Amino acid sequence: MAGERILVLNGPNLNLLGRREPAVYGHETLDDIRRRLERRAAQLDCTLAFEQRNGEGEMVEAIHRCLDRQEGVVLNPGALAHYSIALRDAITSVGLPVVEVHLSNIYARETFRRHSVIAPVALGTITGFGPFGYELALEALVEHLRRR
Ligand code: DQA
Repeated sequence: MAGERILVLNGPNLNLLGRREPAVYGHETLDDIRRRLERRAAQLDCTLAFEQRNGEGEMVEAIHRCLDRQEGVVLNPGALAHYSIALRDAITSVGLPVVEVHLSNIYARETFRRHSVIAPVALGTITGFGPFGYELALEALVEHLRRR
């Protein structure tokens, strides 16, 4: 693979996908999603790194590590989307384009999920399309990077 270097970063509890509330998040595991994205990345000719972290600080550090290494981030912040100003500040600090993705439709769930503090600093948000949403996010990010 060549092309754009992209990190796919997953936040708290997403390591339990496949077992976690399957009625909401489906049956695919995070490994399934990684494999799905690696196939898509090969088609799009971009280079993928894939990570999952449970801690807010670890997520901030993962964003910092992108400096001088990655050109953009596909980010499922998990619950951090709803309250983590630290994660949002990390994004604006590194200045890299981020596409926010959620498996579930955060606007069709509890009220506290309807607000994302990440959304205003993201290029865009894809929410509610399950694992396919990651593919859409990757494609949108690559398209953005190629248009620069
Ligand atoms: C999620 C939605 C969040 O509200 C939740 O806290 C998650 C998963 C999603 O992918 O649908 O952990 O980001």
